[in-house]
Amino acid sequence: MKNTTAIRKNISIIVAVAANNAIGKDNQLLWHLTDDLKRFRRLTSGHTVVMGRNTYLSLPKGALPNRRNIVITDRPGEQFEGCEMAYSIDQALDLAGNEEECFIMGGGMVYQQLFPVAGKLYLTTVDHSFDADTFFPEIDFAGWNLVESEFVNSGGKNDYPHTFTLYERKA
Ligand SMILES: NC(=O)c1ccc[n+]([C@@H]2O[C@H](COP(=O)([O-])OP(=O)(O)OC[C@H]3O[C@@H](n4cnc5c(N)ncnc54)[C@H](OP(=O)(O)O)[C@@H]3O)[C@@H](O)[C@H]2O)c1
Repeated sequence: MKNTTAIRKNISIIVAVAANNAIGKDNQLLWHLTDDLKRFRRLTSGHTVVMGRNTYLSLPKGALPNRRNIVITDRPGEQFEGCEMAYSIDQALDLAGNEEECFIMGGGMVYQQLFPVAGKLYLTTVDHSFDADTFFPEIDFAGWNLVESEFVNSGGKNDYPHTFTLYERKA
């Protein structure tokens, strides 16, 4: 039997998390952070992205361009244009295979299941707490090495101050 919990270095989590670990409400994001969206696009373009069905449905224009889109659902026969469908976490990991880097882009249910497997964490921390219905799991930072960090102040098209970080899981 396959071991879903084994760490996979090519699996990366990409997420923006509030001070209270909130990530979404009513199947939408909680903020508008243009620089974070730009960073997301820059990092994920040309790669594979994996998401749950709810996150897919929250996208304004469906499948993300210039990326291989994998959507996880329990509904047999469901098919979204421009996406490969996976009917379990294991199937999503199989589809991701040995790709150089595969980005897990949410939402809460999918992060919960794939955070334990990921080797890298592209984390945006937003300096504000929000009323929310979806949260990221608690992060034990003792298990991660901080590789880079960049603070971005609020202003312009960024609603809140936030920090871009990259962590790699300790061996
Ligand atoms: N802040 C951020 O960086 C960020 C990023 C992404 C999303 N979000 C937010 O997160 C929220 C959505 O998260 P969510 O937890 O509601 O949903 P989600 O994780 O996007 O999708 C959940 C759905 O995925 C499918 N699924 C999950 N695990 C599965 C498994 N093991 N086997 C088969 N299917 C599985 C199920 O689809 P079926 O119901 O079809 O079976 C499930 O209902 C939204 O508010 C969104 O804006 C935030």
